[in-house]
Amino acid sequence: MSNLEQTLSIIKPDAVKRNLENEIKEIFRNKDFNIVNEKKIQLSKLEAEEFYKVHETKPFYDDLCAYLSSGPIVVMVLEKENAIVANRELMGATNPKDAKDGTIRKKYGISIDKNSVHGSDSIENAKIEIDFFFKN
Ligand code: CDP
Ligand code: MG
Repeated sequence: MSNLEQTLSIIKPDAVKRNLENEIKEIFRNKDFNIVNEKKIQLSKLEAEEFYKVHETKPFYDDLCAYLSSGPIVVMVLEKENAIVANRELMGATNPKDAKDGTIRKKYGISIDKNSVHGSDSIENAKIEIDFFFKN
């Protein structure tokens, strides 16, 4: 049965700074993700705090939000069969040290905080995150 899904992907500031935007998009396209919406923006600290609200009790929350708002990011809606899980697999583990060969974080991630990409982790969060960036 077909299960076409959309997920939210972010190319984070460390990767945009290193001009990896086109390379990372090519990886998604080669894995049959369609980029159905995209924009390059810079979030304010407050907007980053809203985006990462699920993590507000975590010790890394403040640094995480400062980092996400530290430079331009590329936000994309990716569409594919089972896109949410497929994107999580292609991204690799949160800590690039633990990420498997062939994953984006293994290839480009610098550290657990500068891990180059974000991807929604559930159907519910994908919808919330897509609306966060693309609902007018
Ligand atoms: O991004 P992912 O869903 O894989 O991980 P998360 O657990 O939802 O954490 C969100 C982001 O917080 C991660 O991508 C890391 O950049 C950052 N983080 C961190 O800086 N230190 C940690 N111990 C855990 C996560
Ligand atoms: Mg997450």
